[in-house]
Amino acid sequence: MGKKGKLQKFAEVTAFSNCYERASELRGKWATHVFKNSNPITLELACGKGEYTTGLAEIFPNRNFIGVDIKGNRIWKGAKYALDNDLTNVAFHRIMIGNIEDYFAPNEIDEFWITFPDPQHAKKRKRLTNPMFLDRYRNISKPQPIMNLKSDSTRFYEYTKEVISEQNLKVISDSNDIYNWDEIPESLANIQTFYEKMWLSEGKKIKYLKYRL
Ligand SMILES: C[S@@+](CC[C@H](N)C(=O)[O-])C[C@H]1O[C@@H](n2cnc3c(N)ncnc32)[C@H](O)[C@@H]1O
Repeated sequence: MGKKGKLQKFAEVTAFSNCYERASELRGKWATHVFKNSNPITLELACGKGEYTTGLAEIFPNRNFIGVDIKGNRIWKGAKYALDNDLTNVAFHRIMIGNIEDYFAPNEIDEFWITFPDPQHAKKRKRLTNPMFLDRYRNISKPQPIMNLKSDSTRFYEYTKEVISEQNLKVISDSNDIYNWDEIPESLANIQTFYEKMWLSEGKKIKYLKYRL
C-alpha cells in the first residue's frame, strides 16, 4: 500500500481502539477504564508520532503511557505501532495541552516527558516548560512529579533551566550533549523521535533535563 495521506490517517486514527479525542469523560478514570490496572501513568506532551510513548512502554511494561498531541495524523503512527505490537500499556489523546486539566484529574499522572517541543522563540507564553504550563502539570499529577525534557534548542534548554532556578526545583539529571555523556540512560540512547533524527542530521547537540516539578 502506498503512503497514506494526512486525511486518511486522520480518519483512521479516530477509529483506533487506543486513541481518544477530547475525552473529558475519562478524566480521573484512565487507570480504571482504559488501562484497567493501577500502574503509574506517564504523559508524553506534544508527542508527535509517539516514539517516546511507545518506546518507553516497551522498556517499562509495568507502567502506562499516554501520548498527547493536537495533530491526529501524527499520532496515527504511534497508535498503529502500539496496536500492531500489542502494547496494551499505551494510549493516545488528541487535545490541546493548554486544556489538559479538563482531561486529567488531580493525582492522575506520575511523570511527564516532552521531546523536541517547538522552541517558541518569540512567545514565552507558548513554551511548554513555562511556569503557567508547569502549574497545569502539577494540577493533574501526584506531588512533585518528574519532568523529562529532551531538546535540540539551546535557548529552550537554557530557558527551562532559568525556570528551574527561579522555582528552586530539584534537578535529577542535566546534560547539554547526551551522546557525549557516559551516564546516558537507556531511555535516551535507544529512542529517537522524528524531530530528533532531523536535528541530529544537521549536527545539533541534544540536551536533556530531568527534574522534579
Ligand atoms: C516539533 S514537534 C515534536 C514532536 C515529537 N515530540 C518529536 O520529537 O518528533 C511539536 C509537536 O507539538 C505539538 N503541539 C504543539 N503545541 C501543542 C499544544 N498546545 N497542544 C498539543 N500539541 C501541541 C505539535 O502538533 C507537534 O506534533
